[in-house]
Amino acid sequence: MKNLTPLINTSLSKELQALLYLLGYCSQQGSFKVYAVGGFVRDLLLGQENRDIDLVVEGSAAEFAKSLLKVMPGTLRSYERFGTATLTLTNGIVFDMVTARKEFYAAPGALPAVEQSTLKNDLFRRDFTINTMACALNPGEFGMFFDYFGGREDLERGLIRVLYKLSFVDDPLRIIRAIRFEQRFGFDIEADSLSLMNKAIRNRLWEKVSNERLYNEVRLVFREPKPLKVLTRFNELNLFKEIFPRLLFTPQVKERLQQLEYALAKFKPEAGSCNYTLLFLSALFYDLEERDINFLCHLMRLKRKERLALLSIRANVPSVLRQLKTETVGPASLYALFKELPEEGQLLTIALASEPRIREQVMYYREHLRGRKPFVTGKDLLEAGMKPGPVFNRILSKLHEAVLEGKVKNKEEELKLVSLLMKATGEQSAEK
Ligand code: CTP
Repeated sequence: MKNLTPLINTSLSKELQALLYLLGYCSQQGSFKVYAVGGFVRDLLLGQENRDIDLVVEGSAAEFAKSLLKVMPGTLRSYERFGTATLTLTNGIVFDMVTARKEFYAAPGALPAVEQSTLKNDLFRRDFTINTMACALNPGEFGMFFDYFGGREDLERGLIRVLYKLSFVDDPLRIIRAIRFEQRFGFDIEADSLSLMNKAIRNRLWEKVSNERLYNEVRLVFREPKPLKVLTRFNELNLFKEIFPRLLFTPQVKERLQQLEYALAKFKPEAGSCNYTLLFLSALFYDLEERDINFLCHLMRLKRKERLALLSIRANVPSVLRQLKTETVGPASLYALFKELPEEGQLLTIALASEPRIREQVMYYREHLRGRKPFVTGKDLLEAGMKPGPVFNRILSKLHEAVLEGKVKNKEEELKLVSLLMKATGEQSAEK
């Protein structure tokens, strides 16, 4: 295949097609040469849309990105020192741009050869052949397909192959990436690449990388469609215990991850509402002692807020599950059980529930109780002459309970209840 335009026109959304043509137009306006590369082209050939688009820009990525901002609303971050820029559009599409510097050492006089070698040099530094294909975006050559390293063939054969022997030494995070892609696509790591990878694992090459970078890469595993498969492969390759010391990959751990993946597929959380790292770590850390959780959180450079969420989930989910298994609790008690539990803890409870009745109660909390607040607010009580203090808070929480239980249904009924509660505590009436 020489040109990807038919594929672009058939497998991508109209929105993305329009953006690609617009990129081409902008590149011509500013005399840049722009290519879509990497995962975007790989996924295009697989018939999938990837909304994170890697671009190689001949000229300046930062300058090109600036020119895009005039026609596409979004936020731009440029790292001029590294020749990179990221433009995140308001519709969620991300352009990751890198400058390919023109290098004039090859093929004097033959311009196309020079241009191609620039792109080729950039692509040669990348991880696996399947990620080295490119697609020109400039008008005139829009859709032109570049495949210098046999990426297409490896994609068709289902192989993950490094481009050169020292690839894992140059970037040990590629060990994790290779396993991610292998499991995501159901591919194989090509034999020579696998022996280079095993050697890199034996030599513990990831120790050359900062924990921050290492665990940022590990976090991506939890955004994969099947994290359990990736973690199982980590275990087979003796990586799991290195990445998660003090954590055993037991059948129980696997079972919990399986339940979590099943629940996620069934009850898709709203986009952005769930931290997948926390969710999967909460299943992984379920049996661990608090001090081991603290140790791993520190190792993984998790934020304090994330660590506290994991500790809260660890401390509360088992007892919430026990309680919901033995009794059906009323709305106010259900609210009390879940109100402090992070979102990820609620999802884990759904995943680990042994009976549909338990899941239904969590869903009831999420759908009907979580956001339900009284119409009467603290301000109303202040206006009624009450002073803030313990009685004030008690009345508000009694009122909230009554709302949750459905005992009061509108502001008028709420005010009546508040008056009764105030009378009972010797306060003045809130009813006008
Ligand atoms: N890349 C690389 N080595 C790395 C990370 C990235 O060579 N350690 C290159 C690859 O060519 C990759 C591109 O940078 O295609 C973009 O990286 P990223 O967005 O992480 O990869 P994708 O291939 O788009 O993967 P995903 O589908 O997971 O987004």
